[in-house]
Amino acid sequence: MSTPLRLGIAGLGTVGVGVVKIIRQQATLLQNRCGREITISAVSARTRDKDRGVNIGAYAWEDDPVALATRDDVDVFVELMGGSDGPAKAATEAALAAGKHVVTANKAMLAIHGQLLAGLAEANDRALRYEAAVAGGIPIIKSLGEGLAGNDITRVMGVMNGSCNYILTRMESAGLTYEEVFDEANALGYLEADPELDVGGIDAAHKLAILSALAFGTRVDFDGVEIEGIGCVKIEDIRHAADMGYRIKLLGVAQMTGRGLEQRMAPCLVPAASPLGQLEGGTNMVVVEGSDVGQIVLRGAGAGEGPTASAVMGDVCDIARGLRLPVFGQPADTLATAPRAQSATPAPYYLRMALHDKPGALAKIATVLGEAGISIHRMRQYDHTDDQAPVLIVTHKTTRAALNQALDAMDSTGVVVDAPVALRIESV
Ligand code: NAP
Ligand code: HSE
Repeated sequence: MSTPLRLGIAGLGTVGVGVVKIIRQQATLLQNRCGREITISAVSARTRDKDRGVNIGAYAWEDDPVALATRDDVDVFVELMGGSDGPAKAATEAALAAGKHVVTANKAMLAIHGQLLAGLAEANDRALRYEAAVAGGIPIIKSLGEGLAGNDITRVMGVMNGSCNYILTRMESAGLTYEEVFDEANALGYLEADPELDVGGIDAAHKLAILSALAFGTRVDFDGVEIEGIGCVKIEDIRHAADMGYRIKLLGVAQMTGRGLEQRMAPCLVPAASPLGQLEGGTNMVVVEGSDVGQIVLRGAGAGEGPTASAVMGDVCDIARGLRLPVFGQPADTLATAPRAQSATPAPYYLRMALHDKPGALAKIATVLGEAGISIHRMRQYDHTDDQAPVLIVTHKTTRAALNQALDAMDSTGVVVDAPVALRIESV
């Protein structure tokens, strides 16, 4: 009879409790599918006597996650505490060095220390799996690393932060301001303890950096992701975008170009009729384009107890079955250092600005755009009652550098009331 696979779980919050529940409730199914029993030897969290809604009395307790990770009766260390450094990293390193496999949901740790940890895992011939770290329940890591392994991946993009998508779609459906929906999302517990990780685009950028490495065979380069949060998006932008057949999404795009690797996470306009445009609420979507498969779209819950624990358990089952794969799809020491593209692929841009309502104001803006080599595709001036004219411009394709030149020059025309909002229109 085969031996059980014994887990040590550090972190008994939303995800950790979900994992404990699946192991208890699906014991027979897991055993049938993995060919061996999955058991929990020991657990760790900050507070021992907290009611977690599951009985953990049968498992040994460790106050110190590093001690848990190195126990003799642990085959797989399951890291569900979070945080890029601190106990999560220390315990993961200790586990790998002690010859344990590791499963984690920690995108911050992998985005920053992915290369180091992949090297450590491979040097110790152990698995380091992280399906739950990107897009919750969507099996995007498995899809890229296994099902699509025969493709030259050309672009990966997606909505990978459910909280931001909830905020943007709720602003639109309820006609509420960003500030009102932010408070609502916070009260509902949707946002991270530090909400800036969500609305500042950082959490989603961690996920994009991980996908880039896997998709393009490159070292994880989180610092190479251009990041812009959703705080600049106003309800008027959402309405104007809808008027023109677009929706605004916090979209991550990673693309290998002749100029190097482009990685950006920013609010963008996407066609309302596209799969990304139709994504509602806290749901995630990842779109992959490959040389032979064409475009595929994966959609599902990007967070929450069940979906995230489901992804963790997929990794645990693979380890139980003996599957061993390089952490980022190919040996860590063969991952390339991709040059960062110094400029993004040209795209049309949406510009919203308020102009002082006086003769020649619009002409000055048109001149500044023309001088930067930017051609206007569509333009609207909206009704107004005060002396500020709301103006909307959609450009033809241009570079961000040219746009920045125009935005700088607009500042000194004396006709713009506040800094214009500029959002890329992404072709999806
Ligand atoms: P959580 O609910 O805040 O739970 C964190 C757990 O870690 C708690 O049980 C906490 O202990 C424990 N912990 C924190 N610091 C610790 C330390 N120094 N020593 C021992 N235990 C410690 O977090 P979560 O939402 O489950 O997220 C866990 C991981 O999954 C994070 O990396 C997160 O980014 C990732 N993730 C979460 C989701 C989601 O939907 N929640 C989705 C995808 C990925 P106490 O309970 O005693 O405080
Ligand atoms: N804060 C993240 C989100 C949790 O809103 O998507 C899942 O990673």
